[in-house]
Amino acid sequence: SAKPSGVAHEGSFVDRMIHSGKTMVVFYGSQTGTAEEFGQRIAKQAKRYGISATVCDPEECDMEELQRLTTIDKHIALFCLATYGEGDPTDNAQEFYEWLREDGRELNNLHYAVFGLGNKTYEHYNAVGKYVDKRLEEIGGVRMCEVGLGDDDGNIEDDFMAWTTVFWENVCQKYELVINADGTSMRQYKLVDGPFPPETVFTGEIGRLKSYERQKPPYDLRNPYLAPVLASRELFEKGCTRSCLHLELDISNTRIKYEAGDHVAVFPSNDEALVNRIGELLNVNLDEVISLVNVDEDAQKKTPFPCPCSYRTALTYYLDITSVLNTQVLKEIAQYAINEDEKAILTLMGSYSEEGKIKYKEWVLDSYRSLVHVLEDLPSLKPPLDHLCELLPRLHPRYYSISSSPKVHPTCVHVTAVVVHYKTPTNRFAKGVATNCFKELHNKHQVLEISENPPENGCHVPGRFPIYIRKSTFRLPFKFQTPIIMIGPGTGLAPFRGFIQERHFYKTQNKPVGETILYYGCRNQAEDYLYRDELKYFVDEQILELYVAFSRDQEQKIYVTHLLRQHGEKLWKLIKEQNASVYVCGDAKNMARDVHSILIDIAQAHGDMTAERASAFVKELTQKGRYSQDVWS
Ligand code: FAD
Ligand code: 2AM
Repeated sequence: SAKPSGVAHEGSFVDRMIHSGKTMVVFYGSQTGTAEEFGQRIAKQAKRYGISATVCDPEECDMEELQRLTTIDKHIALFCLATYGEGDPTDNAQEFYEWLREDGRELNNLHYAVFGLGNKTYEHYNAVGKYVDKRLEEIGGVRMCEVGLGDDDGNIEDDFMAWTTVFWENVCQKYELVINADGTSMRQYKLVDGPFPPETVFTGEIGRLKSYERQKPPYDLRNPYLAPVLASRELFEKGCTRSCLHLELDISNTRIKYEAGDHVAVFPSNDEALVNRIGELLNVNLDEVISLVNVDEDAQKKTPFPCPCSYRTALTYYLDITSVLNTQVLKEIAQYAINEDEKAILTLMGSYSEEGKIKYKEWVLDSYRSLVHVLEDLPSLKPPLDHLCELLPRLHPRYYSISSSPKVHPTCVHVTAVVVHYKTPTNRFAKGVATNCFKELHNKHQVLEISENPPENGCHVPGRFPIYIRKSTFRLPFKFQTPIIMIGPGTGLAPFRGFIQERHFYKTQNKPVGETILYYGCRNQAEDYLYRDELKYFVDEQILELYVAFSRDQEQKIYVTHLLRQHGEKLWKLIKEQNASVYVCGDAKNMARDVHSILIDIAQAHGDMTAERASAFVKELTQKGRYSQDVWS
């Protein structure tokens, strides 16, 4: 239920808006921060139209107040909402979403617009954004703009920019506004120089100051646990040019609980050399301590990241310095290029004209140009680092499907991660942020004993990563007897290792465990076969029925999907007659889609169904929780 409503209490976002003369509120439903960033950007754009906007976390607001928002002349409620998993809202929008769905809601004359963030590779594409848009109209709201649908699988930056263009056109028309060209480069945060007492300076903590020195449960997104890495192991064979690491993170004495199928979120830190390179390119002393403070005193967000802190801390722990730059950043830093040609190219890309879009796609997106690449390739561009720090997106945690079972490893979560590295089209080597933190640790052979001593220097403690557990809906069937069919090529094997451990555990307890079938795939038998010995052990123990597809050991590709097709009849019997549950994990884009269509084919071929009926059958399986996906792209 919504939080208790009150008149003029501290948390009243409408009162705060009235007090500070704001007419627009932007709510975000954000899991990793992207929706929040888009929300911040649109609030900033509002200035160009003379509109003062505030950005709010719905979890921190009494959303019943939305009705009172209509008392503000020319009000706008904008919702930037991400969709997750099986069409779910993000954690921070959950309460609002449920509240909105209840019968009897009314929000008469609420002027609103919705921009959804989703990914077309998932079945429930932008379900939350679409629902909220429809529902708000249903209960009396006035739509200011068609719902925007951002596709993370395509070019979400483009989707967002295109949508905001239309949105502002509509707003200008309805409220008879004109654009004020100067408004754009107004700083949202002001730089406050030190000195700051050392005990007030953040050193990488995500939430509370000194939270890594004095750790206190419960641990979550805002209060991660600094977990010691007990062990790390290379899973690919010697000689393989790629790397996949097995990590064991200690959670003993933390009250952290998990279940097989949950995700662990890891807060990574940026590569030291890359951070130093930024200091070098901009000629800044990275150890200078600064604070960025919102110029709007009524804003919910006082600082863009924990402040005060040194530039080094900001660039290492708080800011995303490796993604390609977005158009807003390019637009705002253009003013700092001394060379006119360089200024022109930045202005063009930030302009969102047809020509600008083409240039942006070619020069930034397709060339994978991140901050350092842009600074290197435009040598006259020297933005002040504090302005850059205001503009760069936050560094987000990375999720991993836990590859252990708490029945076997109650005080430890296992991670199975492929190390990301690649060459960009401009011939630069790029490294995945989190997986290279793992790799670096592994290379140092820092398999640590657990230390009772608190870490001394923020999260810059070798051998520990800030983590929290994110509950998932990817769960073993309630009954041990229910057969399970698991499909997980590559690191898609991760959660199934946990499932298999758990089924094995029950078997050793003499529980009647049903068939446990795994379809696993990798490139070569001799190179990247993950957990080969363990899987063999479970086969020998007669808990596991294993099928492996080696895609590159012969001329023609063999994938798990080929094996599924071959086993169609047997799989159909398991699903239809024995109520088997089907699980898919790994690549969302190709593999999970292919598996989905094969399931439909199997139902059609062996269940004697029409294509539509087969499709509906697979849908029913999903609804009954008997066909689950844990996929990422
Ligand atoms: P990042 O710094 O995030 O870099 C990755 C980005 O680099 C990509 O998004 C892409 O933009 C770019 N990139 C990568 N390769 C190339 C290329 N060849 N050319 C150009 N650009 C490229 N991963 C696992 O390994 N194991 C798991 O069990 C696992 N479980 C997950 C569960 C969930 C629910 C989710 C959402 C993701 C999961 N992932 C898993 C993925 C994981 O979260 C990270 O995305 C992954 O480890 C990369 O993180 P990184 O910080 O190392 O790379
Ligand atoms: P490939 O790289 O040789 O194409 C783990 O990534 C394994 O999944 C690899 O063997 C990979 O094969 C394979 N794979 C790639 N695309 C797939 C798909 N659409 N369905 C199933 N497996 C796939």
